[in-house]
Amino acid sequence: MSDSPNPLPFESFMNPGLGKYARVYRESIDNPEKFYSDAGWILDWYSKWDSIIDKSGEPYYRWYVNGKLNLSYNAVDRHANGIRRNKAAYIWVDEKGNEKIVTYRGLYKRVNALAKALLEMGIRKGDRIAIYLPMIIEEPVAMLAAARIGAVFTVIFSGFGAEAIADRVNDCGAKLMITADGGFRRGKIIPLKETVDRALELTKTVESVIVVKHTGNEINMTEGRDYWYHDIIREKDYVEPERMDSNDPLFILYTSGTTGKPKGVVHGNGGYGVWVTNTLKWAFDPQESDRWWCAADIGWITGHSYIVFAPLILGLTSILYEGSFDYPTPDQIWKIISYYEVDILYTSPTAIRALMKYGDEYPKNHNLSSLRVLGSVGEPINPVAWEWYYEKIGNSQCPVIDTYWQTETGGFVISPAIGIGVAPLKPGSATLPLPGIEPVIIDQSGKEAENGEKGFLFLKRPWPGLMIGLNKDDQKYRSLYFGKMSNAYFTGDYAVKDKDGYFWLLGRADEVLKVSGHRIGTIEVEDALLSTGLVAEAGVFGKTHQVKGESIVSFLVLGSGTSLDSAVDTIKNGIRRNFGSLLVPDEIHIVGSLPKTRSGKIMRRIIKAVYQDQIPGDVTTLESEASVEEIKEAIDKFKKELKASGNSRQRSQ
Ligand code: WTA
Repeated sequence: MSDSPNPLPFESFMNPGLGKYARVYRESIDNPEKFYSDAGWILDWYSKWDSIIDKSGEPYYRWYVNGKLNLSYNAVDRHANGIRRNKAAYIWVDEKGNEKIVTYRGLYKRVNALAKALLEMGIRKGDRIAIYLPMIIEEPVAMLAAARIGAVFTVIFSGFGAEAIADRVNDCGAKLMITADGGFRRGKIIPLKETVDRALELTKTVESVIVVKHTGNEINMTEGRDYWYHDIIREKDYVEPERMDSNDPLFILYTSGTTGKPKGVVHGNGGYGVWVTNTLKWAFDPQESDRWWCAADIGWITGHSYIVFAPLILGLTSILYEGSFDYPTPDQIWKIISYYEVDILYTSPTAIRALMKYGDEYPKNHNLSSLRVLGSVGEPINPVAWEWYYEKIGNSQCPVIDTYWQTETGGFVISPAIGIGVAPLKPGSATLPLPGIEPVIIDQSGKEAENGEKGFLFLKRPWPGLMIGLNKDDQKYRSLYFGKMSNAYFTGDYAVKDKDGYFWLLGRADEVLKVSGHRIGTIEVEDALLSTGLVAEAGVFGKTHQVKGESIVSFLVLGSGTSLDSAVDTIKNGIRRNFGSLLVPDEIHIVGSLPKTRSGKIMRRIIKAVYQDQIPGDVTTLESEASVEEIKEAIDKFKKELKASGNSRQRSQ
């Protein structure tokens, strides 16, 4: 490395343990053609690409240009017809201890059968379909069946309510919906079909609904629109996979951003497939006989990439769990790990902190010695949680792979990478960039930040996992992600790089909250509050929470005619029903008025600062659109409001 003309940012830190990683990383930066060509062969292609990348439409990038492939073929067929045919693709488990094992051959049959049914229902390449299912085998099957025929799928998290579903369906124009009669959670049935029925009243595009019988509860079936899954599939069907262009869309996943409605992040086939599969190998080094448990929900990107596509393409065995970690008993997760001898556990800091609170005796009572590697995702992991995870769960023997990434990045971008060399870990740091990723931290003035100085995290060069666009929103794609620095991708996160070149993620720099690892926009919550019809004005912000990372605090002015007595409960129920419990604020404070700028913008940061007793000396930094006088006035007025409504007392509890 010493003769290299441009030292890498962390080269001073290189040691023998980092040798291989440094070599691979260096190659990815110096010779991307060769590097990405090798990386591309992790997949099977019907026909090879003409070139690795086409940058002519910057900031849109096309990877593996003109390559043809099918990800359902890669995930299923190539194992189902070979030596892994009888290997378990999924071990499905639920909270009651029920288990279902689906082999690669079994998965292949299920995917083909559903793909055929979709074709028979008129779905064709490029059509959009929506998937709203609990964590059951039919969920990956539905995604792969869509991928097989080239239909673009959008998975909607099963915790969302009717309006949230309708927004997504309407944005992408889904023609078909796949759902279930219900799902199980903490011993209760979640009535998914009922929610779909309400959502479809708000949409026009869905022509048919396929319903999986899972819980057996009574539901309404609409003649001519709704079909039972078991009635439309035939076991022996086979569908030739569609030859997809590398840059054809694979799926759309909605995620929260700085503006009101969630954005539809679109991922393609080739680049996405290459990226998720390689990153899983690099970061976790999974072995053939491993049991891999990515304990996320398939409704989020983590599930798409690391429960469905990457592990299947690699031919791994995954645990698929429908339930909560701590139900029926606080040691449910440890029971599953011990019984199924899980080798790799990949979960979120929120889960780790919640489990930690129950006490050490729960993990101690189980044999967790099968664990070899641990992973974390979704939000910064605080060193205390990291150490507990490392010591108490991994018995100080399993590396903690803290993977930093986003819906938009497709797969990991900054993460320890035990598959390509071992770097010393630092609790709380996602460590170093993966091959091909060139992170840079920019300060307030637009210059590269010094080591140790907090700034905005950008990724300087494109990589294959980067989304191919936003559904129907070219302007937002350009402005939100590429509008701040020419052709560098803006992550929306704060980060700092230490003297060893390690990256420490410091949370979002925009109006996005991370509540229990879930991505939620403050404005999305405000919109949900207003849509109840009971609220005239809403100001929402996040507050540090010991377990959840952040919690949602809201200040509301009620609409005229809303009675104070039942307002809070009615508002909460309305949001839960229409949007899902994710968007229900943890705290609702009712006041007579909210501080606003002259142009009518609610001063969210002032509300937060007053609420947290943190009025800084220089108030001008709080709001860009208001004068100092106006801000001071707003602060004083709001302080009085708080006193009058008793919120100051509530705050100190
Ligand atoms: C945050 C989840 C710190 C970050 C895969 C990012 C993290 C947002 C980490 C994306 C991590 C994710 N350390 N922060 N290891 N992983 N984040 O789209 O703020 O749901 O921008 O994707 O989660 O959330 P998303």
